[in-house]
Amino acid sequence: MKRRLFWKLCTTITVGTIVLFWIIHHLILQTEQHMSFIDQHYQQQLIDYASHAEKLYLQGEEEKLADWINTIQQREDTWVALIRSKLTPLAGSEMDNYFIDNFALGRDISWKIHLYFAQNPIMDITFSDGHTHFLIRLPQRMRPGGYWTYTSLLLQIALPMLLLAILSMVIYRHVMSPLRQLEKATKQFSDGNYQVRVRDDLGKRNDEIASLASTFDSMAERIGTQIQTQRHLTSDLSHELRTPLTRVELALSIAEQSNPNDESLQRIRHECLQMRELVEDALTLAWLENERPALRNETLDLTDLIDSIVENARFEFPRHLISVQTPETACLQQSSDRALGHAIENILRNALSYTPAEGEVNLTLKQHTDHYDLQIDDQGPGVPEDQLQNIFKPFFRLNSVESGKHKGFGVGLALARRQVESTGGKLWAQLHEKGGLRMIIHLPIPV
Ligand SMILES: Nc1ncnc2c1ncn2[C@@H]1O[C@H](COP(=O)(O)OP(=O)(O)OP(=O)(O)O)[C@@H](O)[C@H]1O
Ligand SMILES: [Mg+2]
Repeated sequence: MKRRLFWKLCTTITVGTIVLFWIIHHLILQTEQHMSFIDQHYQQQLIDYASHAEKLYLQGEEEKLADWINTIQQREDTWVALIRSKLTPLAGSEMDNYFIDNFALGRDISWKIHLYFAQNPIMDITFSDGHTHFLIRLPQRMRPGGYWTYTSLLLQIALPMLLLAILSMVIYRHVMSPLRQLEKATKQFSDGNYQVRVRDDLGKRNDEIASLASTFDSMAERIGTQIQTQRHLTSDLSHELRTPLTRVELALSIAEQSNPNDESLQRIRHECLQMRELVEDALTLAWLENERPALRNETLDLTDLIDSIVENARFEFPRHLISVQTPETACLQQSSDRALGHAIENILRNALSYTPAEGEVNLTLKQHTDHYDLQIDDQGPGVPEDQLQNIFKPFFRLNSVESGKHKGFGVGLALARRQVESTGGKLWAQLHEKGGLRMIIHLPIPV
């Protein structure tokens, strides 16, 4: 059936609304009925008033009877009277026995009282002679349904709200719980779990959401396979390149021994070094991407680590100024000296390569309560804002004139990010106010 979800929702809402109206209607009727009768205890009290009056009436105690009526009137703050009815049929009509037996001037005390009437009804307790009526306007305190206004508000407003909230919750859960599963799976997929699937977890469900889950599964299957293939390709290729590269380096060493000053050989050596670096970096990157290892088994001093990296960099880039602001010590537990050191080195090398000679690169390490922030600012051309994320993609290089001067492979930052992440940190890039690029390494301090 097409639009299954629509029909499901339509049916649930329709049935739910009908049931809701039925329940409310039924409850209001029942409650009103239940609240419309004079309490047994009050009924007995009215009967007692009438009995006493009847007794005095039968004894012929007119004065005492008048006093008694007066007393009740004052006690109950109401109207009381004793009235004799004399039924006189006119125009030749006849009296009916049923009519005579049930004739009353007011309401019987066992009858239902209308809760909506403003005036209290007049109750009639007929004496045993059948034509003397003890009449009393129902005292306010005996009037049933005192809480009817609140009860009806509760039944007409609060109860529908509650039932509608339950109905909404049922619908919401029906729609949202598979969507949440889908969201969870999407997050897991984006975190690198390419095996995650959703359709089977939705059971026998067969609606639009189930079809969305199937689409997600086939997308995950296709993209997951593509990513794995690509990673294995990078890893296999780098691995396969190692052996011939070693052979070339060996042959090169032999050739260098006989021609130590040959410029072409020096050039080949330089290219070999670069290629070795690329192969090793690509292998490490593929390993970090595939295995997602947690490199958190060392305790290190960030200040020492930065100092030793800066010392090497000053040697490599003697014409640049490198300024460093670090605390005296910056102890970091559960980290990796090698991974973090390699990442900082890569970032610093980029910063120095893109900063013109005589320019300055600044490293600032700040300690906060639960993390360290290492900021590396350079005076290079920076990166266009919309490319700030892309520079962390493997083999991505900008096509600008400045970037053209720097010949790298585009692996450095991708590797640096993975290395920082494997120690539990984060790495991102910003443009800073004075131009140039700012790299931030955020390293949480484990509790
Ligand atoms: N400090 C920087 N200033 C300007 N652009 C930068 C800077 N750092 C990186 N980039 C840009 O980001 C791209 C990717 O940097 P990444 O370090 O990954 O690669 P690379 O330096 O080109 O090569 P590799 O590091 O593999 O030798 C660079 O090619 C460059 O275009
Ligand atoms: Mg680089």
